[in-house]
Amino acid sequence: MDKVLITGGRKLQGEVEISGAKNSALPIIASTILSVDECVLSNVPLLKDIQTIKKLLECMGARIKREGDTLDVNTKDLKSCEAPYELVKTMRASVLVLGPLVARFGEARVSLPGGCAIGTRPINLHIAGLQKMGAEVEIKHGYVEVRAKRLKGAKIYFDISTVTGTENLMMAAVIADGVTVLGNVACEPEVVDLANFLTKRGARIRGAGTDTIIIEGVARLSGGSYEVMPDRIEAGTYLACGAITGGDVTVKRCIPAHLEAVLATLRAAGLKTEVTSDSIRVIADNGITAVDVRTMPYPGFPTDMQAQIMAVMTIGRGLSVITETIFENRFIHVPELRRMGANIKLQGNYAIVEGVQNLPGAPVMATDLRASASLVVAGLVAEGKTEIHRIYHLDRGYERMEEKLSQLGAEIVRVK
Ligand code: EPU
Repeated sequence: MDKVLITGGRKLQGEVEISGAKNSALPIIASTILSVDECVLSNVPLLKDIQTIKKLLECMGARIKREGDTLDVNTKDLKSCEAPYELVKTMRASVLVLGPLVARFGEARVSLPGGCAIGTRPINLHIAGLQKMGAEVEIKHGYVEVRAKRLKGAKIYFDISTVTGTENLMMAAVIADGVTVLGNVACEPEVVDLANFLTKRGARIRGAGTDTIIIEGVARLSGGSYEVMPDRIEAGTYLACGAITGGDVTVKRCIPAHLEAVLATLRAAGLKTEVTSDSIRVIADNGITAVDVRTMPYPGFPTDMQAQIMAVMTIGRGLSVITETIFENRFIHVPELRRMGANIKLQGNYAIVEGVQNLPGAPVMATDLRASASLVVAGLVAEGKTEIHRIYHLDRGYERMEEKLSQLGAEIVRVK
C-alpha cells in the first residue's frame, strides 16, 4: 500500500490553485439522473470519491466520459435503480442517488450506509422526507427500498441540519408534483452550488443558502453545462499548511466568502491574511496563538476543517479548546497527533490542546479523510520524517496533494 513520507521543517511559500469541490461535484453528478439530456460538468476534481460515483452511475447504465476536468454524463439509458453494497460501503455519499432515482423512475434500491469512522451517520431524515412526499419505504436485507408513482410536494422540517439530506430532498422535489418547502435546511455553499445547477436546467428553487428552501416542481429538467465551484476545505487545508510552517501561502481560484469562519480563526491565532476576490494569502511570521474553535453548520467553523486546525494548534502558544458539535467521533486524529508529541486531552466532545515547542516526526495513519489531512499538516512542521500510512483516504478528497505541496516547497514523496 502507498504511503507518504514528509521531511518536516520547510516553510511553505508560494501559490497553489484550488480544485473543484468534492462535496459539490458529488451531488451535482448524482443530479444528472434527473433528466434524459446530457450534462457537461467542468472543474470536476480527479478524486477517488468522484471515480466511485462515476462507477455507480455507470453500473446503472449511464455513459460518462472524462476529459481533463470535464465530465460528459448521459443517463438516458439508465436501466437499474440500484446502488449496491459494494459501492455504498466505500463511499456513503452514494446515498445521493436516492432522491434523483425515486423522482425520475418512481423507485430506488440503495444499500444502507452503515456507521463510519467519524460517527453513526444515519439517513433517517432523508427517508422521513421521502415518506412525507408520498413514498413507501421498506428496509430489507440492508437495503432501503423506496417506491412512489410520483412524488408529491410536501412541507418537510429537518430536526438536524443535514447537508446530503437537504440535497437529496431538493433533488427529489424538483420534478415532484406541487410545491415542497424544506425547513431548517443546510446552508452550506455546496447546497447552493447544486441548486444553481438544477435552476440552470429548469428547476424552480428559491432560498438555497438560507434555512428554508422552496421548490416548485416542474414537469421535466433539461441537461446543461456547469462549472463546479472551488473546494473550500481544500483551500482551508493549504492555509493551515502555510500557517503551521510559518510560511507565506496564497490559495488561488477559491471563493474567500466561503472561508469566513476559517479566516476569522486564523486571524485570531495571530496570522496575517490578505484577501482578493478569488484568492487568500496567509502570512505566518509571528508564530501561532492558541484559539478556541467550535464546529458548527455553515457559516460556522466547518467540521471538515477541525482536524487540520487542531494540528495547527498543537504548536500554538497556550491552550486551545476545540469542540466538535457535528459528529460524535471526529477525534480519530488525536491519538495519532499524540504519537507525534502533541499534548491533547479529550473530554467528551472537547479536545484540550496545549501547544508544544515542536513535534517529532513519527509513523502515523488515520481512518478518515480529514484526519489524514491533519497528519500531513502536522508532518510539515515535525522534526525529521513523518510516514503517513493508508493514504487512500487522502486520495478520496485531495487532488494531487503531494504535487501541490511540493510546489510550495514541502519535502514530500509518495512511496509505492
Ligand atoms: N444526521 C442524522 N440523520 C440524517 C442525516 C444526518 O442524524 O438523516 C446527522 C449526522 O449523523 C450528523 C449531522 O446530522 O451528526 C450532520 O450530518 P450531515 O448529514 O450534514 O453530513 P453528510 O451530509 O453525511 C456532508 C459532507 C461531509 C461533512 C458533513 C458536515 C458530503 C458528501 N459530505 O456529510 O463531508 O462533514 O456534510 O458538513 O457532502 C468530508 O468531506 O470529509 C465529509 C465528511
